[in-house]
Amino acid sequence: MLNVALFGPPGAGKGTQSEFLINEYNLFYISTGDLLRKEIANQTNLGMQARNIIASGGLVSDEIIVQIIEKTITNNPDANGFLFDGFPRTYIQAYILDGLMIKLNTSLNCLISLELPEEESVQRLLKRGETSGRSDDNEQVIRNRLKEYYDKTLPVLKFYQERGILHEIDGSKSIDDVKSQIRLVLSAELRKRLFNLVLFGYPGSGRGSQGMYLARKYGLEYVATGKMLEHEIAEQTAIGKKIVDIYNSGKLVPDEIVVQLIEKKLEKHNAVKGFIFKGFPRTLVQSYILDGLLKKIGTQISQVIEIDVPTLELIERLDARSKTDKRMPYDSSTSKIVKRLQEHEDKTVPVIEKYQQLHGVIKIDGQGAFKDVSQRLIDQVENVIPNVR
Ligand code: AP5
Ligand code: MG
Repeated sequence: MLNVALFGPPGAGKGTQSEFLINEYNLFYISTGDLLRKEIANQTNLGMQARNIIASGGLVSDEIIVQIIEKTITNNPDANGFLFDGFPRTYIQAYILDGLMIKLNTSLNCLISLELPEEESVQRLLKRGETSGRSDDNEQVIRNRLKEYYDKTLPVLKFYQERGILHEIDGSKSIDDVKSQIRLVLSAELRKRLFNLVLFGYPGSGRGSQGMYLARKYGLEYVATGKMLEHEIAEQTAIGKKIVDIYNSGKLVPDEIVVQLIEKKLEKHNAVKGFIFKGFPRTLVQSYILDGLLKKIGTQISQVIEIDVPTLELIERLDARSKTDKRMPYDSSTSKIVKRLQEHEDKTVPVIEKYQQLHGVIKIDGQGAFKDVSQRLIDQVENVIPNVR
């Protein structure tokens, strides 16, 4: 989730800049001012309580704000992120926002403050008042709103400054200039995030070599459980000795063991740009494990891709590999190959179906030259990477 709050005095351009943010970053928009005006238009109980306060330029009570905002947030738990305009406006509201974000297991990522000299606020709002129809766009009320802002709202900045998520932008520049500044803040924020790709495909589909290629190209950590297990066997570690027989028979290694190895890999999360998971998750249980492991380091799956190759070609490829020195212990005979394909069909296909519902799975054609398949993967990855990183 990307959660952003726009802050600033009346007339700073919060509403104006919200328009592009909602579309460009696919955010759910919450303007407490708009929500209150809607309550007033619908003549609800809350609206009636707020009406006179708004008309005089004062701040509506935190009790009223919590009611309208909680309803909106909890009704939209699946949002890609929230954009708050005109909230939080008091110290208490900053704590309320914390509480609401915790409820959704997320947090505010940045507070963008649009700075504007007082007189310019007045000029902009008087001009807007010629057409806005807002009861509070007249000089006396504008002055009152500004007073409330400097007395009660501006001190909230300190709260976010201490958290290190405050970004101050000169709001007196042109609308396009302000937009570019906001974009810079958000791209830096997105770059901090990990890009986590789950790569599926039947054995022999090329997911291993493609996964390694993508990992190198984008500075991602390649997490291939098969390779990690092989390493344990080759080094004859305690784990290696435990799993050698299971592994050679082409069966799945117990989750308790796989989890330990992945946890070790994920410890690198501060040093890498993300992870590519290949050969994991292989079962529904493992898909839940992966969610938990990623959550523990504050991240989640960014993209799921399946490399698609017809079964007959898979068997031909694996059979050909078994005659080279790249042979894997588990493709030494056709019956073992078929068993692995069957294992994938039974256990992993349900995982792909689950991801299809949750994230959408992108299927790419795995036939043809290596570089052609890579290019198909790159085209997909680059659709998501700029939004994540
Ligand atoms: P709210 O609706 O939030 O009003 P506000 O804070 O006074 O802010 P505005 O909507 O007036 O300004 P804006 O920053 O959105 O500017 P805009 O983009 O429109 O709140 C209204 C009332 O509700 C409050 O007074 C309070 O009573 C109550 N309330 C709301 N939330 C509350 C809360 N959380 N707690 C308690 N009470 C709450 O731009 C203004 C004008 O400038 C436009 O005409 C625009 O075209 C122009 N403009 C914008 N950017 C530029 C630019 N860069 N250059 C030139 N012109 C520009
Ligand atoms: Mg506004």
